[in-house]
Amino acid sequence: MSPALDLSGFSTTLHFYLNGTEIILNNPDPDTTLLQYVRSIGLTGSKLGCAEGGCGACTVMVSSYDKATQHIKHLNVNACLTPLCSVDGKHVITIEGLGDHKNPHPVQERIALCYGSQCGFCTPGIAMSLYALLRNNSTPSEHEVEESFDGNLCRCTGYRPILDAAKSFAAPSVKKAGGCCGGAGPNGGCCKDDKPELPSTIPQESSVRFPSVLFKAYDPTQELIFPPRLMKKSAEPLHFQGRKAQWFRPTTLAQVLQIKAAYPQAKFLGGNTEVGVETKFKYMEYSPFVYLHDVSELQGISITPEGITIGANVTVANFQKALKAAIETVSENEAHVLRAFLANIKYFAGNQIRNAASVAGNIATASPISDLNPVFVASNSTFSILSSEQSVDSTARVVPAKDFFVGYRKTALNPATDILTEIHIPLTRPGEYIRSFKQAKRKDDDIAIVTAAIRVQLAADNTILETGFGFGGMAAFTCQAKKTQAFLQGKIWGDKEALDGALEALDQDFPMEISTPGGQPEYRRTLAKSFFVRFWWDVIEQKNLNVQNENGDLSLLTQEIHRDLSFGAQSDKGTIQNSTTEIVSKSVAHVAAMKQVTGEAIYTDDMPKLHNELYGAMVLSSRAHAKIVSIDTSAALAHPGVKAYYGHKDVPGNNVWGAAMFDDEEIFASEEVHCVGQIIGVIVADTQVIAQEAARKVKIEYIDLPHVVTIDEAIAADSYIPLVKSIVKGDVDAAFANCAKVFEGQTRLGGQEQFYLETQAVLVNYKGESEFEIYASTQNANETQAVVASVLGVAANKVSCKVKRLGGGFGGKESRTIPLSCIMSIASYHQKKPVRCMLDRNEDMAISGQRNPFMGKWKVGLDENNKLVALDTELYLNAGWSSDLSVAVMERALGHIDNVYFIPNVRAVGKCCRTNIHSNTAFRGFGGPQANVIAETYMTEIAERIGMTQEEFREINFYKEGQLTHFNQELKDWHLPKGYFQLKEKSNFDARKAAVEEFNKRSKWRKRGMALIPTKYGISFTALHLNQAGAMLHIYHDGSVLLSHGGVEMGQGLHTKMIQVCAEGLQIPMDMIHIVETSTDKVANASPTAASASSDMNGMAVKNACDQINERLEPYRAKGLAWKEIVHHAYFDRVNLSANGFYKVPDLGYKWGENKGQLFFYFTMGAAVSEVEVDLLTGSHTVIRSDVNMDLGRSINPSIDIGQIEGAFIQGMGWSTTEESLYFPNGRLFTQGPGNYKIPGFQCIPQEFNISFFEDVTHESVKTVYKSKGVGEPPLFLGSSVYFAIRNALWYARQENGHPGSFSLSLPATPERIRMAVGDSISESSKLEAKQGERPFVLSVF
Ligand SMILES: Cc1cc2nc3c(=O)[nH]c(=O)nc-3n(C[C@H](O)[C@H](O)[C@H](O)COP(=O)(O)OP(=O)(O)OC[C@H]3O[C@@H](n4cnc5c(N)ncnc54)[C@H](O)[C@@H]3O)c2cc1C
Ligand code: FES
Ligand code: FES
Repeated sequence: MSPALDLSGFSTTLHFYLNGTEIILNNPDPDTTLLQYVRSIGLTGSKLGCAEGGCGACTVMVSSYDKATQHIKHLNVNACLTPLCSVDGKHVITIEGLGDHKNPHPVQERIALCYGSQCGFCTPGIAMSLYALLRNNSTPSEHEVEESFDGNLCRCTGYRPILDAAKSFAAPSVKKAGGCCGGAGPNGGCCKDDKPELPSTIPQESSVRFPSVLFKAYDPTQELIFPPRLMKKSAEPLHFQGRKAQWFRPTTLAQVLQIKAAYPQAKFLGGNTEVGVETKFKYMEYSPFVYLHDVSELQGISITPEGITIGANVTVANFQKALKAAIETVSENEAHVLRAFLANIKYFAGNQIRNAASVAGNIATASPISDLNPVFVASNSTFSILSSEQSVDSTARVVPAKDFFVGYRKTALNPATDILTEIHIPLTRPGEYIRSFKQAKRKDDDIAIVTAAIRVQLAADNTILETGFGFGGMAAFTCQAKKTQAFLQGKIWGDKEALDGALEALDQDFPMEISTPGGQPEYRRTLAKSFFVRFWWDVIEQKNLNVQNENGDLSLLTQEIHRDLSFGAQSDKGTIQNSTTEIVSKSVAHVAAMKQVTGEAIYTDDMPKLHNELYGAMVLSSRAHAKIVSIDTSAALAHPGVKAYYGHKDVPGNNVWGAAMFDDEEIFASEEVHCVGQIIGVIVADTQVIAQEAARKVKIEYIDLPHVVTIDEAIAADSYIPLVKSIVKGDVDAAFANCAKVFEGQTRLGGQEQFYLETQAVLVNYKGESEFEIYASTQNANETQAVVASVLGVAANKVSCKVKRLGGGFGGKESRTIPLSCIMSIASYHQKKPVRCMLDRNEDMAISGQRNPFMGKWKVGLDENNKLVALDTELYLNAGWSSDLSVAVMERALGHIDNVYFIPNVRAVGKCCRTNIHSNTAFRGFGGPQANVIAETYMTEIAERIGMTQEEFREINFYKEGQLTHFNQELKDWHLPKGYFQLKEKSNFDARKAAVEEFNKRSKWRKRGMALIPTKYGISFTALHLNQAGAMLHIYHDGSVLLSHGGVEMGQGLHTKMIQVCAEGLQIPMDMIHIVETSTDKVANASPTAASASSDMNGMAVKNACDQINERLEPYRAKGLAWKEIVHHAYFDRVNLSANGFYKVPDLGYKWGENKGQLFFYFTMGAAVSEVEVDLLTGSHTVIRSDVNMDLGRSINPSIDIGQIEGAFIQGMGWSTTEESLYFPNGRLFTQGPGNYKIPGFQCIPQEFNISFFEDVTHESVKTVYKSKGVGEPPLFLGSSVYFAIRNALWYARQENGHPGSFSLSLPATPERIRMAVGDSISESSKLEAKQGERPFVLSVF
């Protein structure tokens, strides 16, 4: 029997400070996170983006006082994983504690003024990371600044402006052009700089993005102080009892042992970074929690001649500091092991996680892909363990790390009794070498695919005396490579046979199969061997052994790719040429930026809770395709706090809807489900937690039906959306018959998750009298209104939909938000109460669809001069289970299959495959980028096959002014060739290309590549009726103006631009104009905010409203009155001061099938050149430089447009490199959160990133508002110049490895695809044969 625990010494009060205010909570609930708490009390500046520590939107700063050192520590942490109960004695600072829009903190001010906030959802978290950095060090180096954001993500900005803002705080260092002001400071540096700059590689006159702004000085003495009361407070043991769990906070090891003895099931907690994810996403339930962070015996660090010993619950960040300190005190040789740990810690999660996570937590979790455990194993480290059956003075059991891990998440710890107390790491001995390795999809903040440490002890004659191998990602637990270790014993280091034998032995150690859990078996086997090769040559290099080297420059083999500080220049020169307007064409910061960066900006889920509000949680299908046999809701309805379950029978109106051409979706599945994640019902309850718990209790019985998930499976099953689209021009068959050369190929591209930082959210307010008010995070208020009305069976005039702003949309909130609004409306209808829902990130990703994956088969014919003559192509997209917008996506793809090349004969046919995955949907570019990639692939592959340079092949085939596209549209103002050649010159392309070739000659395992990729993008909705817009203008008696238009602000700066257009139109200052929201009761029948056309169309509608007002006010203006007087007099003269503007895009009217009429209003065009360096041993790459040159007509707001270009480019780069959607063969999405779906991070952006506009071009034919051009989507495809540059680097490698000619590389070019395409003996020998019927663990669906 367990001994009872005396609780008399335990306090039940949580005492901490929040933004300088003392908070005392009695018996808080241990299941509550700090984020839930601060948001519940109205501090909604901290956002929920993922709840798994992967996005940083929830970042807050937690300060604590160390009495022993009298030092205050400031740590940025993820509030979503920080238990509220853990902040006792600490000072929590949220974004609201920094400043407000009237008096912002310098951090906030600089991010806002440097255009670092677009949708703003990530911004408070990013500001908090920067703030924490400055609180610890008010003059960080630029490197420290760049590294401080590794736990934050932004989906909009492309990071560069945020880095510029942050670097304005950095200590003066060797900076390049740019900075917060884009180089308006001395010598083209930042305006903050008072020291001269080094010369830049960028023309100085081009760096004019920002007006020179005088920022508030940063004065660290003005910061919130650490509360003196807390300094005096001693940590006391705590005990809380919550709804489901208990919490203990012991302060001594003796108390820990007593608690564990009393509660053998007790769950130890370090930083909760692992357990927090388990409880949220795996629904594990633990009690009691025993929080170990404040137990001083578990926090010690000591360095002795034998090694370094750390208390088990030292945080990873403190471990890192201790290692760095220890390096200073030991010899260079002894430090090898410390460096091996540091190398892996550098890429261990992000700052916020490292600040919270404990070393013991990493060890005890025993994840097969832990980064620390392989180093412990290889380095002969040992772990000390105490049992609750022992006393605190007993001798601990010491277990070598290599014997500690015994199975999948199983260790030598007895979970009922044992606690890890200390870790001992021996220093490296003479003759010993050790190094660690980690390969992930993304370098920063990503879990490993394979992680390893390898150690060798050599005799003086290089005989191998001992080895230590620790591998993660190669088995179900951290393991050694026993066969390899045995083989190497006694061999000579440097002996080629020993190397070859070791590589063979590694294959035997890790045999794997195609279906091996975790996936990527061939890559993982390749990596294990590649790491060993790197280590082999590293030791040879260090020892300077005389070994035959056929690898070229050895350091390029032994060292990982180095990334420099990022910088760049942005020029608005081309776009403001000839501008005559006063407000339009000026760079003005996003009108809501200051509110966004201070956390005051309200997003849907930030709206205060309404009276009687309820929460809705989805009941989702767990099958890809099945008949629903029964639904048992009894357990769910019995759950305390649950109000109701609603399914298809509860829909008052129509349960069927469709986003575009087909009504083929049910709001709630009735008889069959067609994908994992299809919505079957909704549980309505008092709170989110209760609703979600109850939703998991709904029991559904299914009978499985056959399912298809990939495009190939759909083709084989003849499973299509029944509408095939095509464009045919010329006599294609006859043209092929006369071609000098004909080439065929296939291109495959994956989908892309929109990954807006704000997941889908809706609040429906039933207002009585059958009226419903919907606050939704949607790009499509009008269709939301229409479909909700149909579903509820009421007229549209009873439903209004309002959108204040979105935390990003990117197309993902165009149609896929509608079911959520409908479902909450149904719940609200029945309950007659407000109902809210904000999807969890994993739900959002599972339900809401992505960019359509594509497969393109192409046949291309050339004449004898290598001019394109004919294209015959079949495009297939993976639509998912319903048609949604897929046919329209295909239409756009068919219209972009030419990219910028004149092809007189074209047959392009597009089929949409119906499969059993989530319904795929719009994503920035809407089929255009997919088709452009297919086009550039055939251009690239053909150039390689005919032996022509890619540039020459492209250039001779460019369209010329006045030529007709394959959809028979005449190209007017065709400046693409001009802009392309301007870019070629600006980027110094020819010289750099020659340098790339030189580099590649001296390096076998590192190659560089370059690609210069053009684009043209047609602006207009392909659905004719959507090309219309409305605006409403009210001028109030005081002269202030309320502007409404049909577009939604989702970070793209639409409201800012519309206010500029309105201010220009009325000739008044921008600050007299306000936009409250987008609302169907202000502007009816608005088209979705999409297709890059919103500024054009809404801008014209706003201008039209202004024109009407101006006409009415003309008599007053003629009198020379000031604005307020004009309005005043007009009002008293009873002049109508409201106007309803309208615009219909002229000229359009394409007829599919006939191939007649105008498809697009005009084209936006541009080009990008990227240079990359690829580590062929691992598949990693870095972007050395990207330059983008675009024609956006006369930009309404150049800086906002530059932000759109940068953000879109980085999204396109992510789509084509790191972002990989994977599915289990049963149709379930595997990549359901930032943990395994990797959008680019701060350290992914090009090291040099330059943006400019076409210069010296005119826009005679452009009839848009102020001749500006759409920008949202067109630059996205240019991000794939990085993919094509990687492909180019691989081409060099493959030539050397005996694979001449062309090759195909599916997109995205992940490290896995890159590595497996190198064609060397290591990757070739790692390939596996699939057994009969064997399928990979996870698969792509293109
Ligand atoms: C966004 C994110 C990124 C991550 N990235 C990485 C990464 O790059 N590399 C990597 O290796 N890991 C990574 N992790 C995993 C995780 O953060 C680490 O494993 C971390 O070290 C866990 O520490 P913790 O203190 O938070 O553990 P907790 O979640 O508090 O506990 C984890 C486990 O350890 C047990 N435990 C804690 N202390 C003791 C003790 N003294 N004795 C016995 N058992 C104990 C707990 O009972 C629990 O079972 C990441 C996690 C997240 C959320
Ligand atoms: S919400 Fe906390 S890290 Fe994403
Ligand atoms: S501004 Fe960063 S996610 Fe939108």
